[in-house]
Amino acid sequence: WGVEGHRAVGNIAEHHLTEKARRQVAALLGTQTLTLVSTQPDEMLALPEYKDTAPWHYINTALNLPHDQYVQAIKAQDKPNAYNILQLKIKELKDPSKTREQRAEALVFVVHIIGDIHQPMHSGRAEDRGGNDIKLTYRGKDTNLHSLWDSGLIDYQGLDYTEMSQQYDAALPPTLLKTWQAAADPAEWLFESYTLSSQLYAEVAQQPNLDFRYFPAHAPLIKQRIQQAGVRLAAVLNEAFK
Ligand code: ADE
Ligand code: ZN
Ligand code: ZN
Repeated sequence: WGVEGHRAVGNIAEHHLTEKARRQVAALLGTQTLTLVSTQPDEMLALPEYKDTAPWHYINTALNLPHDQYVQAIKAQDKPNAYNILQLKIKELKDPSKTREQRAEALVFVVHIIGDIHQPMHSGRAEDRGGNDIKLTYRGKDTNLHSLWDSGLIDYQGLDYTEMSQQYDAALPPTLLKTWQAAADPAEWLFESYTLSSQLYAEVAQQPNLDFRYFPAHAPLIKQRIQQAGVRLAAVLNEAFK
């Protein structure tokens, strides 16, 4: 996601933390908040010491794998990727032998990666770099499938992250909230993104010139992925800081 998407995820998560988790997050982040640190790993990419962290934001596989094969494929990849780094950072977050600084940095990555793996194009195909190489037009302007989903559609919506998180949180059905909080398996969240990206690839292969119809057709999906990311991030932190 872009800036507003990540911040909306962080902001929704803040609304769903237990008191205990809230206190431990504050102890790690000091004056910062989940909302504010949510975009930090994208900013870190500009620093030489973090230049190798780009693959931590996504995971690509072959297309059209059924569920079990997809899960097997992501678990078998040993190069750093969103799946194995997220597991590592959740572990570091809870590890009392780590310094406060190390645990704070782990938290920053957990916030960002849980956001990113809910962006459907972050579980895409390697050969087109998660849709970055799929050129298209959106309402007459040149863009690509990845960027459209990171930020193009969210920017078009014209809400900032506070408006987005308020609207999205208010529209959260209690039964869905419970379901999402209960099932905390990042491999499943990635499979959801993967299923969605397959559909998004297929749509633009049919018609790469997207008009005003594209936003209303996909707005419910953007909302659901941001809501899920926020609620699930809170669930992971509530569990880590139990
Ligand atoms: N580069 C290669 N694959 C990518 C993906 N799925 N998302 C973002 N950047 C990428
Ligand atoms: Zn990212
Ligand atoms: Zn992206």
